[in-house]
Amino acid sequence: MLLSLLLATTLRQAAARDHLDVGFAITPSFLSEPEYAQIAGTEFSVLEAENATKFEPIHPRPGNQPGSYDFAEPDKILAFAEAHHMKMRGHTLVWHSQIAPWVRRGNYTPEQMNEILHGHIDAVLKHFGRKVFAWDVVNEAFEDNGSLRSTPWFNRPGIGLADQGTKYIEQAFRWAHEANPSPKLFYNDYGIELLGKKSDAVLAMLRDFRSRHVPVDGIGFQMHVGFWLDNPGNLASLEQNMKRFSDLGLIIHVTELDMGVPNGDPDTIKRQAELYGKIVAICRRNPAVKLIQFWGITDGHSWLNRGANSGHGLLWDENYQRKPAYQAVMAALAR
Ligand code: XIL
Repeated sequence: MLLSLLLATTLRQAAARDHLDVGFAITPSFLSEPEYAQIAGTEFSVLEAENATKFEPIHPRPGNQPGSYDFAEPDKILAFAEAHHMKMRGHTLVWHSQIAPWVRRGNYTPEQMNEILHGHIDAVLKHFGRKVFAWDVVNEAFEDNGSLRSTPWFNRPGIGLADQGTKYIEQAFRWAHEANPSPKLFYNDYGIELLGKKSDAVLAMLRDFRSRHVPVDGIGFQMHVGFWLDNPGNLASLEQNMKRFSDLGLIIHVTELDMGVPNGDPDTIKRQAELYGKIVAICRRNPAVKLIQFWGITDGHSWLNRGANSGHGLLWDENYQRKPAYQAVMAALAR
């Protein structure tokens, strides 16, 4: 063990000692950049499509025939994963965003929406079979105040369960498990890192699901974080909150970790590195945390660049140089 530690030169190697996976969100077109491809294939043991497995790109045409789907991009990702002995994670089946226009503009009845979603989940899970080890079945179904978000799948018009609270979420998990019992099935959300109204609501749902044997295996903490997390009270809250989810017997995946900061000044970047180190240390103290996954590789391609005051969030800078955050994550994994 000491030897493997001393020899760890990548995040993937450092994490493996703890039976921990490290992942990243991939956009296949960036693989044409040699640095991107090299880092992707060596530093990580898991990948997930940043977009390619969402409803709109994967199911662009109406109906439920083979021609309704577009598996070309996801299959490229899968091939890359297999070539580099990585696992692929699926994201996401039921979400209010990035739904294909044919669904959004179709004026379907709840009966039709039910059929569409069932067919979608069934076809996608069967396509990947055992090749995708975990799926975000439902993404972002709650509002910050803990109420259910109004969405096309829930109540606009919904799949026929609009008056039954979390029943439509339960239905999605049941369909996923029926289609393919092999992948681990996750509920994934943002803003549930700390104790609070939103995490309370998600916890209550998952406690209910577990008690009735609804097939849910894990909770995904997106963790798009920032310096708001960086005080002892919030860090303690993160740790306690993760614990109450793992106490339900759930696996925890950190699914979309990044940390937008106001600027790229050396002091800011140093503070970012320290906070990354603290987060990884907390994850390592909870054995239910099996994956730490970053929402991209380089600051040059991060989705955060679209928001004001929130770039510089990842472990490599726009020139593919390792940032202090990389060193801090590595040190926290190796400790
Ligand atoms: C983002 C992608 O990074 C962008 O490229 C895309 O334009 C919009 O979606 N929560 C999620 C992710 O679950 O799917 C989102 O990804 C970021 C927030």
